[in-house]
Amino acid sequence: MDAPVLEVKDLVRRFGDQTAVDRVNFRIDAGETYGLLGPNGAGKTTTISMIAGLLQPDAGSVAVLGQPLTTSRKSHIGLVPQDIALYPDLSAREGMAVLYTTHYMEEAERLCDRVGIIDAGVLVAEGTRDELVRALGEKTTVSFRVNAGPEALTAWRADLEAITGVTGVLDSPDGLAVVTAEGPSLIAAAVQAAEQRRVDVVGVDVTEPDLEAVFLHLTGKALRD
Ligand SMILES: Nc1ncnc2c1ncn2[C@@H]1O[C@H](COP(=O)(O)OP(=O)(O)OP(=O)(O)O)[C@@H](O)[C@H]1O
Ligand SMILES: [Mg+2]
Repeated sequence: MDAPVLEVKDLVRRFGDQTAVDRVNFRIDAGETYGLLGPNGAGKTTTISMIAGLLQPDAGSVAVLGQPLTTSRKSHIGLVPQDIALYPDLSAREGMAVLYTTHYMEEAERLCDRVGIIDAGVLVAEGTRDELVRALGEKTTVSFRVNAGPEALTAWRADLEAITGVTGVLDSPDGLAVVTAEGPSLIAAAVQAAEQRRVDVVGVDVTEPDLEAVFLHLTGKALRD
């Protein structure tokens, strides 16, 4: 079997007391595009800087084609800078592997064969888009945009957690998001509870399972702030 183009083993990097990258493992095979996704401060740039040889790891190893990373072998890895929306020459990736980080989930879904999700330095999930979505189960995320004081929000969160079929309640950009296997049918109960708690629901978004839902589920954060 061919050695992976890139193999990262138990990579660790600390900054003072903080462990920015905490025993991260992944491999990328020839021709594969791998997306490293994570919220702000998750450790993406720190990981890539170590792979690029720009930053010394505190522990762990980076191997390219089965050999410890050396300057001459760097050309086998395509490092695509974060936040670049267009990748002009996809044909160039043939025969090499691409490690890609982005804040754009659509790009990740479109370009990456596999993704790793990193949060607080830890790789919390990895796989193809379909594997990750399947691992989440058949769950739907219902996000409520609300206006509410902190106490009302806390009380409403407890109400939401108590609704039958709710498997999780997460912070979402302007309110709370409910993860459920019941589909959108719980919206009525959630809105009724909100009225009683003086939580003003200004919008509801229903998200069927996709990579964004996986990400929100695992990290509690939207990929873009
Ligand atoms: N040179 C440094 N000195 C101290 N702390 C650092 C340094 N570089 C990164 N960090 C910290 O390490 C953590 C990971 O940072 P990193 O830049 O790798 O995250 P990121 O996933 O690239 O985030 P973003 O999506 O915002 O680019 C953060 O908490 C950051 O503040
Ligand atoms: Mg970064």
